[in-house]
Amino acid sequence: MTTILVTGGAGFIGSNFIHYVAGHHSDWKIINLDKLTYAGNLENLREIEARPNYRFVHGDIADRSAVAPLMAECDYVVNFAAETHVDRSIHDAGDFIRTDVYGTFVLLETFRASGRPRRFIQISTDEVYGAIETGSARETDPIAPRNPYSASKAGADRLAYSYFVTHGVPVIVTRASNNYGPRQYPEKVIPLFVTNALEDKPLPIYGDGLQVRDWLHVEDHCRALDLVLHEGVLGETYNVGGGYELRNLELTRKVLQILGKPESRLVAHVADRPGHDRRYSLDTTKLRALGWSPSVPFDEGLRATVDWYRDNPGWWQRIKSGSAEYRRFHEQHYGRRS
Ligand code: NAD
Ligand code: DAU
Repeated sequence: MTTILVTGGAGFIGSNFIHYVAGHHSDWKIINLDKLTYAGNLENLREIEARPNYRFVHGDIADRSAVAPLMAECDYVVNFAAETHVDRSIHDAGDFIRTDVYGTFVLLETFRASGRPRRFIQISTDEVYGAIETGSARETDPIAPRNPYSASKAGADRLAYSYFVTHGVPVIVTRASNNYGPRQYPEKVIPLFVTNALEDKPLPIYGDGLQVRDWLHVEDHCRALDLVLHEGVLGETYNVGGGYELRNLELTRKVLQILGKPESRLVAHVADRPGHDRRYSLDTTKLRALGWSPSVPFDEGLRATVDWYRDNPGWWQRIKSGSAEYRRFHEQHYGRRS
């Protein structure tokens, strides 16, 4: 039986990936190692937890004693576990370095020591290329991260590669663009803006709102990872981009339009993010050559995502009103912005 270790599987992309694997490889055993930080939520896996071939392990990727026994029983490792919010990394980068860099080191070391798994996928990000003024970043371009989150991710990305080159560990790195879809923590722009609009609260746009992000539906990301797991070349890096570039202001208008909410009352320009990357853009030729292309048209995916938040108010209300950590960060971050 194939066993896959998914780290950070209680978060947004990790939980969508576990749903995907359970649906497409029902005979695989899935082990989900997650520390359950503020962003981890076992509610994301309710439909999965009763499956006999699924196991949740509450633990930290930076804890060798938690990780080593799991390495000894798995065939594949997909490392999603990370601190992921750029704004939080600007307030305090400590946990980013501890988890994203040191945690990845522990995973790679224990993988190397066990010698068992066949593939290690390191989930990296398009942010490692830094801001892309013109054109689109290719895998061979230099990396130039510009905020503490992307610098930590770049450290992990190159550390993983170094274990391939130096120790022959079978590593593949993927760099995805901005994901959207169900179960994304409502600190990221789409779920924050959708849920604020549902609550008739202002949508805080940083600066002029003309920054560009390249949107990728999480389901398309999961399909890409499945392909890379099976067909990717060891030691290589693959960009995973949705190819749908949009200014934040246009994104905001689309959200408000879907919900039938007035722009004049809800759009609020607030102080910009320090070091805000103006644009991300990925060249995905290399992944497309393996047979992948994004299949979810953005307007359809956004509408379905808005519907999901509208249909699952309990999920996000438990976070936005029920979590002291959510309220603490929100006050610290937005309190002095507006
Ligand atoms: P998320 O914040 O929703 O989830 C992160 C998960 O990791 C949570 O379940 C959390 O509890 C867990 N975690 C954090 N620290 C841990 C630790 N030390 N040990 C074990 N578990 C830990 O994140 P996400 O948006 O789903 O992102 C997943 C991965 O994809 C990250 O590596 C991120 O850098 C990368 N990525 C995200 C996007 C995006 O748009 N969301 C795009 C490109 C790449
Ligand atoms: O590009 C991939 C990255 O996408 C991932 O690696 C990160 O983990 C993920 O968080 C995401 O980073 P971003 O910084 O692009 O995502 P975020 O949702 O925080 O912001 C998207 C854009 O919206 C960005 O230009 C900042 C802007 N924004 C965000 C928030 C939270 C606002 O204007 N207002 C806001 O309140």
